[in-house]
Amino acid sequence: MARVPTVNDPPVEPYRIKVVESIALLSPEERERALQRAGYNLFNILSEEVYIDLLTDSGTSAMSDRQWAGMMLGDEAYAGSRNFVHFESTVRELTGYPHIIPTHQGRAAEHLLLAQLAHPGAIVPNNMHFDTTRAHVIRVGAKPLDLAVPEAYDCESPHPFKGDIEVPKLTALLEGPAGPSVPLVMVTLTNNTGGGQPVSLANVREVSSICRRHGKPLYLDICRWAENAFLIRDREAGEAQRSVREIGREIFDLADGALMSAKKDGLVNMGGFIATRDARLAARLKEELILFEGFPTYGGLARRDLEAISIGLREATDERYLEHRIGQVRFLADLLSSNDIPIMHPPGGHGVYLDVHRFLPNLTASQLPGQALSVELYREGGVRSVEVGAIMFGEEEAASGRTLELVRLAIPRRVYTETHLRYVAEVVRRVWDRRTTVRGLRMVEAPENLRHFTARFAPDGG
Ligand code: F0G
Repeated sequence: MARVPTVNDPPVEPYRIKVVESIALLSPEERERALQRAGYNLFNILSEEVYIDLLTDSGTSAMSDRQWAGMMLGDEAYAGSRNFVHFESTVRELTGYPHIIPTHQGRAAEHLLLAQLAHPGAIVPNNMHFDTTRAHVIRVGAKPLDLAVPEAYDCESPHPFKGDIEVPKLTALLEGPAGPSVPLVMVTLTNNTGGGQPVSLANVREVSSICRRHGKPLYLDICRWAENAFLIRDREAGEAQRSVREIGREIFDLADGALMSAKKDGLVNMGGFIATRDARLAARLKEELILFEGFPTYGGLARRDLEAISIGLREATDERYLEHRIGQVRFLADLLSSNDIPIMHPPGGHGVYLDVHRFLPNLTASQLPGQALSVELYREGGVRSVEVGAIMFGEEEAASGRTLELVRLAIPRRVYTETHLRYVAEVVRRVWDRRTTVRGLRMVEAPENLRHFTARFAPDGG
């Protein structure tokens, strides 16, 4: 069992700082001007206008001295670079999959894989699709279907594995009339859009056996697999003595392949891959890879980036690193809970998610409370977060029963210290204390797809 940090016993960094980057808090007037200019969309705020940036844990990791040293060993050959050889052997060793296809990031892997496996009219089940995964399923004319357990939609439930797939629903789908329309089953580790919640090993085993029984390939989104494996070790009966790598390997053995955005548990700023056992699929993917990403020994990346990924993938399985990493998430969650601030429980792997329905009960859905809260955190203290709710998922999702309205405080890996987290908790507390004063927003420019990235808003009634 990992040591559980508390408010008075924060996790201690298993690293020291060699390079620093200055950050500064703008004045309240400057922050207000930044918000106006950005159309109240924090994706339009400049990084220099942000004090603590919890927009995402993706591509925001601090690389280690070893990774930077690896970058200097880049062999920038178009074909057959030694960095690719190292990358391929690392991914093979960790996952056990024989065919490794590098991509420039996770969504490129989604694009290639889903274009091969899904088709118009198909149904693609997942615990919960991430927004880009969903968009790539829709892009090929297929329908994304979220099958997470009901507890995943209940922020107060203490269920330890809210990333689990609801097995009876998956079975009913595959055995029912729509079964033949399912070309693959996906599971996302951890369940990012549901609070960074882990999937249990028991659930992967069950899903795998159902998929095998029905002849359906199982593909895992493993961008946060090390965090998921650590949470399995911590929470699942009988797993405490196993290493994160062993648990990960069992999970990979249960599936046919995986895709990964290395920008998360690869501890790099750019990169991703597809890994599969299917040689014929790999050959087709490589043809498309050449068209869209690049030659199969670099796949849209500089070769030095592949070196950094090889090193980062191993570092992300270091259990002292993971204990601190997950410890930071728990520490921030504890600080917030100790002030009765409503969050998704239990805290997951890469961030703390505020429960907007309980935070701003006075705002109606049309007042976009998640976006309003996220804007307010920036206004209060220059903290950037992201709405994971109605704007990210749209009306069609709300109609399909998604009831979660969350604001994610994603913690970048190896970047912020205990004091930064205390500062964030203080900013959230100040907004919580004046929550009845928070005004809603309305959307004034709404693009059709992935609208949270580019939509513009205005204060409600303003
Ligand atoms: N799958 C999951 C579960 C993700 O969280 C992401 C990205 C992707 C796929 C796509 O990977 O960004 O490398 O193309 N998530 C980021 C986030 C953007 O903020 O959660 P990518």
